[in-house]
Amino acid sequence: MFRLIRKLYKVPRRICALREISRLSRQPDAASKSLAKVLRGTLHNRPTSEEKVWIEKIESLRNELNSSSEKVTLMDYGALSSDESCVEPKTSEGKVKIETIGEVCRTASKPYKWSFLLLKLIREFKPSVCLELGTCLGISASYQAAALKLNHSGRLVSLEGAESLARLAEGYFKKLGFDNIEVVVGLFQNTLKDVLEKNAPIDYAFVDGHHQEEPTIGYFRQILPFLSDRAVLIFDDISWSDGMKRAWSTIKAYESVKVCVDLSYVGICIIDNSKDRKENYKIDIS
Ligand SMILES: C[S@@+](CC[C@H](N)C(=O)[O-])C[C@H]1O[C@@H](n2cnc3c(N)ncnc32)[C@H](O)[C@@H]1O
Repeated sequence: MFRLIRKLYKVPRRICALREISRLSRQPDAASKSLAKVLRGTLHNRPTSEEKVWIEKIESLRNELNSSSEKVTLMDYGALSSDESCVEPKTSEGKVKIETIGEVCRTASKPYKWSFLLLKLIREFKPSVCLELGTCLGISASYQAAALKLNHSGRLVSLEGAESLARLAEGYFKKLGFDNIEVVVGLFQNTLKDVLEKNAPIDYAFVDGHHQEEPTIGYFRQILPFLSDRAVLIFDDISWSDGMKRAWSTIKAYESVKVCVDLSYVGICIIDNSKDRKENYKIDIS
């Protein structure tokens, strides 16, 4: 009964989402149509049979990690609270923490729905070079690498500041059979420049770490000149704090950002130098 009420409650939201997705799909450019297809696929949650094989493997790893009580010592570089005034000066120094793998996985890894969205984006846009800021235990990286494997091309460079997490993630990638992920250890502030210079042009970037206003805008500005003519950027936690909301507004206003979709938790931008009109969408697919 409760389930039915919850389902019925979601109907108007779903109708609004589908209406906005249709509006996006009616745009003349290929990127908007592709993005609409991805969002519809995510909303209906219909993985193909080959995608299901990978999803089952990664979700089984997630379950294993979620229940792990093994301790890991890490430098925490993430924003620890959405109140930016208390974390801003601490973030670049990091904070030593001892947590169980289960705690890290449950709190930091992207849940299934958003990981599936990343998989669908890569399957649809077929990027050659993908970048991730924030590997953590490698759950989102695994989804992205699985999509690249299914595309039979492309590679992912994933950046992580906490060495202990990076090493664990590398072990999981090996276990899952991924040979298309490179993990770069170090603060984004120290590693991003070199990674961009070595790997440009970048077709896709997922920014999922250091969720604060200035750093987020800074990473966006730093990545922008290294992007290919048509690229997809995804920012996590765009509504998490006032600072992240401001960061998202600043990013949206950039001339080269042609399509912006605000999914509440996650923001997607399409950079397309051949498109002259800018489009903004707010779609609730949760
Ligand atoms: C939310 S977690 C990433 C989760 C991962 N993308 C997933 O869904 O599986 C953010 C990660 O970014 C790392 N991080 C945050 N700020 C960083 C910085 N300035 N430099 C390097 N790593 C950072 C943290 O150590 C953490 O592991």
